[in-house]
Amino acid sequence: MKIHKIKSSISNYISVLLFNKRLPISYCLFNFFFNKLIVNKKNLNHTLKTFNDEGYTKIDSNFLEEVDEINKNITIKEKFPNRVEYDLSQNIKTKIIKNLNDKLKDLLNNLKKYYNSNIIIADMSIWSNFKPKEISSSKEYFSEKFHCDGYICNYIKIHINLMDVDKTCGPLNIISKKINKKFIKDFNYKDRNYYNNDNNYDYIYSNTGKKGEAILFDSTNCFHRATIPENYRTMMQLILFVSPFEQTEQSNNPKFSDYLGYAKPTGIFNIVNLFSKYLKNKLNFKR
Ligand SMILES: [Fe+2]
Repeated sequence: MKIHKIKSSISNYISVLLFNKRLPISYCLFNFFFNKLIVNKKNLNHTLKTFNDEGYTKIDSNFLEEVDEINKNITIKEKFPNRVEYDLSQNIKTKIIKNLNDKLKDLLNNLKKYYNSNIIIADMSIWSNFKPKEISSSKEYFSEKFHCDGYICNYIKIHINLMDVDKTCGPLNIISKKINKKFIKDFNYKDRNYYNNDNNYDYIYSNTGKKGEAILFDSTNCFHRATIPENYRTMMQLILFVSPFEQTEQSNNPKFSDYLGYAKPTGIFNIVNLFSKYLKNKLNFKR
């Protein structure tokens, strides 16, 4: 194992013990201070209150029209053994991004106030997970081991169901961030590949729902996993980027790679520097 992998495993392990999250220590510290000093928890509506308390919430809006438009127009971008990724023409993508921005306007505005920062749709991806022919418990096919996404908390996700999703479709499972400590104890969680997965607990949230329904979730602070479908599941993922910049334009062809350095910063200097940008923005937001 390379030195940086060993360092990263130790850092993640210490974070599980100290912060109840599987993230590098520096990211846990960033998230801790971000939550204490940047986030505005006053006057939250029901959706934001649930998001703040649990780390996930169903979204009020329904995206059935957009989903029908997407399902009619998707083309295959790339095929993998158990997964197919899809694409849309630029015209359709522009139209969908515009409609999503309109429908999500209130939520994005509320998130802007909550994070004291601009919020943009930084990525849009569509894919299907298919049941593997043979399933080995030592392998991961769709990130089905509990984990936290390895970014700082300026990276949040919206998942939109492109079909009706029941328990047989391999829905996303999420643990409320309120009970991370209990989850770690119950599962004897040491790392992504070292925990006791034999028991089922009714506090595991299963993101089932109708076509067009959507969920907002904080994938860096909540443990989550995909589950294996009996047949397949098709969904769309939006990455929302909590921007450290005063002005941030919404692109019609969002590419997360443009923001990767800000969501996955390396080195203490960059992390502290980024934090100071958010702090400065917060002070400006208040003026
Ligand atoms: Fe994940």
